[in-house]
Amino acid sequence: MGRVHSHAIAVAGGEVAGIAGSSPERAREAADSLRAAEVFDDTDELIAAADVVHICTPNHLHAPLALAAIAAGKHVVCEKPLATDAATAQAMTEAAREAGVVASVPFVYRFHPMVREARARVAAGEVGRLTLAHGSYLQDWLLRPEDDNWRVDADKGGALRAFGDIGSHWCDLLEFVTGDRITAVSAQLAKANATRGGREVATEDIVTLQFVTDGGMVGSTVVSQVSAGRKNRLFLEVSGSRATVAFDQEQPETLWL
Ligand SMILES: NC(=O)c1ccc[n+]([C@@H]2O[C@H](COP(=O)([O-])OP(=O)(O)OC[C@H]3O[C@@H](n4cnc5c(N)ncnc54)[C@H](O)[C@@H]3O)[C@@H](O)[C@H]2O)c1
Repeated sequence: MGRVHSHAIAVAGGEVAGIAGSSPERAREAADSLRAAEVFDDTDELIAAADVVHICTPNHLHAPLALAAIAAGKHVVCEKPLATDAATAQAMTEAAREAGVVASVPFVYRFHPMVREARARVAAGEVGRLTLAHGSYLQDWLLRPEDDNWRVDADKGGALRAFGDIGSHWCDLLEFVTGDRITAVSAQLAKANATRGGREVATEDIVTLQFVTDGGMVGSTVVSQVSAGRKNRLFLEVSGSRATVAFDQEQPETLWL
């Protein structure tokens, strides 16, 4: 994601003042392709020099790096999932509010024009009183037992893997489009592969989830990283008393009404 952020910074007219990586050597290797003006030996040096700190590391480092940046009075763009547990995410949110810095999580699907269209139509009352939302977020890049990544390990990715990695996007999109907040959930977690890379896996491949929202909607979603043939199939459908809107991230120029 460092590459994606670096591109976005350039497009927005900003400058990547510097980068830090898992080691100074790794950061030096990446400096040209990330358009970095400087390479810092560690993240403390980077935070001291930055106006805005972008955090594109594995998930377990989001909280310590974001809190250090906020404590130094720096604005923060922190990748999702914000933290690996809810209490830490809450503490980060409060720290940013108290420090008066801008703090943001790049939930990128919010920026599809058709997602904006769906949100505008809901806000204008065209969908009516919201009653039901459902959908899924399906991928297949962890289908096989030999497929592996730092996300699989709870100490780096967090105890909830598929949900934290992509379920967080689905829930954010639901709340962004409808303006409702999810207030209660009931979920099942399942593993398709008990071992990966010769070790036991503690994190889930599949989540099925039911929820209710503060606006009175009920709904469900399915999150999977082991759905053969599905690459990045984020689908959200919201129904109300007057209409239904549906968005499919793999057909992003179309909104089904
Ligand atoms: N918003 C989105 O749509 C989206 C998409 C993909 C990934 N992400 C998020 O971005 C983050 C990174 O994911 P990725 O797929 O790019 O992972 P990645 O493994 O490709 O990259 C992680 C980078 O962090 C660096 N790193 C590790 N430890 C570090 C440290 N101590 N200090 C500085 N750098 C360190 C690694 O060298 C590596 O370059 C994750 O939190 C992920 O959830 C978000």
